[in-house]
Amino acid sequence: MARREGPAVWALFLWPGGHHHGAWRLPDSPGDDLMSFDNYKRMAQEAEAAKLDIVFLGDRLDAWPLPNEYLAKTARGARLETITTIAALAAVTERIGLVATASTTFSEPFNLARMIGSLDHISHGRAGWNVVTSYTDDQAQNYGLDRIPPRPERYARAQEFLDVVKGLWDTFEDDAVIRDKYAGQFFHAEKFHKLDHKGEHFQVAGPLNMERPPQGYPVICQAGASADGIAFAARNGEVLFSVNSSIDRAREYYTKIKDGAVAAGRDPDSIKVLASINPVIGRTEEEANEKYERMQALLDDGVSRHFAEMYFGIDLAQYDMDELVPEIELPEVARGMPRAHQEYMLTRARDQGLTMRELVQGFNGTNIYPKSAEAAADEFQEWYETGACDGFILQISDVPEGVSDFCEHVVPILRRRGLVRDDYAGTTLRENLGLTYPANRYAK
Ligand SMILES: Cc1cc2nc3c(=O)[nH]c(=O)nc-3n(C[C@H](O)[C@H](O)[C@H](O)COP(=O)(O)O)c2cc1C
Repeated sequence: MARREGPAVWALFLWPGGHHHGAWRLPDSPGDDLMSFDNYKRMAQEAEAAKLDIVFLGDRLDAWPLPNEYLAKTARGARLETITTIAALAAVTERIGLVATASTTFSEPFNLARMIGSLDHISHGRAGWNVVTSYTDDQAQNYGLDRIPPRPERYARAQEFLDVVKGLWDTFEDDAVIRDKYAGQFFHAEKFHKLDHKGEHFQVAGPLNMERPPQGYPVICQAGASADGIAFAARNGEVLFSVNSSIDRAREYYTKIKDGAVAAGRDPDSIKVLASINPVIGRTEEEANEKYERMQALLDDGVSRHFAEMYFGIDLAQYDMDELVPEIELPEVARGMPRAHQEYMLTRARDQGLTMRELVQGFNGTNIYPKSAEAAADEFQEWYETGACDGFILQISDVPEGVSDFCEHVVPILRRRGLVRDDYAGTTLRENLGLTYPANRYAK
């Protein structure tokens, strides 16, 4: 395969205490102040100064379902709400894309059309929406249900939800608003449309009380990994987050997504697949290893064990901790993490010949690797240029230090190699990612 050229897409996943479970205890971590917006702001501004493409906020609609005494030993039980935080970030950044997660299972299309549409207006066209369907009973129990609906049902609702939201965003045609003060005409009445949607899951009359978002539709992000999720992603997604335990598996996923897009009648370049990576960066490999060991030493054994049990929804008492990771039968409904993440952890453990104890102690993120800046850049380059992804979603283990290390030490190397842009190409996220502006369905 010809090696690909041009910059990759770079997204930074903001997590206030860092993605490594021990990282909040590091002396420089803001882990003692998880509600501080300044922490988010600092990371977003640093990412923008480095010309990364996106800052991303994930969301779950619960505190992590760990027993209290163990959750209390982590920095996982508290975080700011996603959409309001992204709105605040829009006011303190100018060019970087801003992606908020919101669930189609526990919201209404009219609500999210307004909220995500507002983010796009507030940020002057830099918003993205990570469309998730949520996946645990614990989240369902905060919304009047005992159980999470089955996945096919969630994705069917998600499809109708997204179609309705796009329909609402089309309420005003692009040239509807004229603001003719002299004539007293604010917009052309015939370019303002009522949706009148009556479907299986939703009845939404519209029109939306908002002008069309600056990007037409904010960028649609997604992370489907199951057959239903991949079909949804291939049909609707523009930026995809993926988790794969090796470069070969990432290439397989990449091919599946791009083939799916073609089958859905889309240009494969209209989907950017980002690989999730948790880098631990040092100026030298030795420094990176030291940093990693420092974080590992701050892990609490009980937390790691309960986290693993929650993650897989299993009782670890049935396993010999010194045996190699066996085949594990996973429960149908996840308690902690989606099936794709569970399979990722198990496959990686088996590939690396880990024992159950090592698996449990390794509960600190996905694709963790301590590396020198140069070696990390080599690995990113290999993944990108050989068709494993179109870019990366960085789940930095320690914050804020790890974000600074990445921006100061790795970005300059990547930029010299042409993998990080010198400057933003446009003013909207769509322009920066090279995604086309979607036509309004009512435009003649
Ligand atoms: C990098 C990354 C970030 C994700 N962030 C979220 C999130 O914030 N909220 C959420 O509910 N799911 C999140 N997910 C999970 C996906 O929405 C999805 O449920 C998962 O990848 C499994 O796919 P499936 O729904 O097809 O089973 C994320 C996945 C990845 C790879």
